[in-house]
Amino acid sequence: MLTFTAQRLHDVTRRIFEGAGTPPDLAAQMADVLVEANLAGHDSHGVIRIPAYVDAIHQGSLVPAARPEVIQETPGSALVDGKYGFGHIAAAFGTDVAVRKAKESKAVVVSIVRCNHIGRVGEWGSRAAAQGVIAIVTVGGGGGPGAAAPFGGAARALGTNPISIGIPAGEQPDMLVDFATTAVAEGKIQVARAKKAPLPPGCILDKDGNPSTNPEDFYAGGMLLPFGGHKGYALSMVVEMLGSALSPGQHYNREGRGGAAVIIAVDATTFRPRDDYDKAADSTLSRIKSIPPARGFSEVLLPGEPELRSKAERLETGIPVAEATWEAIIKASQSVGVTIE
Ligand SMILES: NC(=O)c1ccc[n+]([C@@H]2O[C@H](COP(=O)([O-])OP(=O)(O)OC[C@H]3O[C@@H](n4cnc5c(N)ncnc54)[C@H](O)[C@@H]3O)[C@@H](O)[C@H]2O)c1
Repeated sequence: MLTFTAQRLHDVTRRIFEGAGTPPDLAAQMADVLVEANLAGHDSHGVIRIPAYVDAIHQGSLVPAARPEVIQETPGSALVDGKYGFGHIAAAFGTDVAVRKAKESKAVVVSIVRCNHIGRVGEWGSRAAAQGVIAIVTVGGGGGPGAAAPFGGAARALGTNPISIGIPAGEQPDMLVDFATTAVAEGKIQVARAKKAPLPPGCILDKDGNPSTNPEDFYAGGMLLPFGGHKGYALSMVVEMLGSALSPGQHYNREGRGGAAVIIAVDATTFRPRDDYDKAADSTLSRIKSIPPARGFSEVLLPGEPELRSKAERLETGIPVAEATWEAIIKASQSVGVTIE
């Protein structure tokens, strides 16, 4: 395992994307987001993704210079066209549109189409919460086989259908819920595969529908399982419906995959002044945080706390990167004529 500072990974990421034809401001934004995912402890959505994005650029399915725009709008809604660019750039833009409109109209919905992979979905829930807006962000409805079986099924039919919910607080850190509705995100299988480590039980079935802990079985035609049995599956279906039925079904990549990222945003001051909101939010978070730990636990954590702790620690001690991941990043840099020393 190698270790890098956040600054070094940021620099490498920015240079590779610039080398691949990304304008400097967008390349820097991509570096911010990928390194932030590593800092948050979600290595599955950090720099490990660089080679896949560079490949997508080489293949023409990701347009590195694309800038998103609003193509349909009412006071309470906006449809954003990601123009086949980086999903992260479209998601940042869409989140800011949702925040602006939520401040004007209190509650709004934004759907982002043709946007490619939007990365760590929690980034966008956090971005809205930091601006005083509650946001529910979902990514799904891609159609096609996807990666996950429905509860009780033994064939791929759903994406990992992630959901993120950012809720602003006052003096306490904002609350952040952010997970795939599968037992593990597909990126975590990539990480386990790179480390040659087994998966926890209950995450995947092999191609014949047998439970497995070997990441290779997933890539040999296996499938992810929803978390929490029928309840996780039901939530996955909500994400699927928002991305397919609510959204207009424009292809979000050039392989013809549909679906959308959907943001439902509510201004924190919808029903009360911000001071009152902050006091109530902090009081609820403190009440839960003060609950004594159960046997086997040292404390109750709030959603979002593990990521904040990871960030504080990794800014001090550095970000671990598996050697196979680093080699793939170097190869990606060479493919765009960038030399990484
Ligand atoms: N863009 C995409 O298409 C896509 C698809 C799937 C997943 N993802 C991303 O993958 C990442 C990993 O997803 P995951 O499903 O592995 O997440 P996970 O299982 O690690 O769960 C993370 C969530 O659980 C909370 N949490 C963890 N431990 C906790 C505790 N002890 N107490 C309270 N809360 C706790 C975290 O704060 C966070 O909100 C996410 O960032 C997700 O957005 C993205």
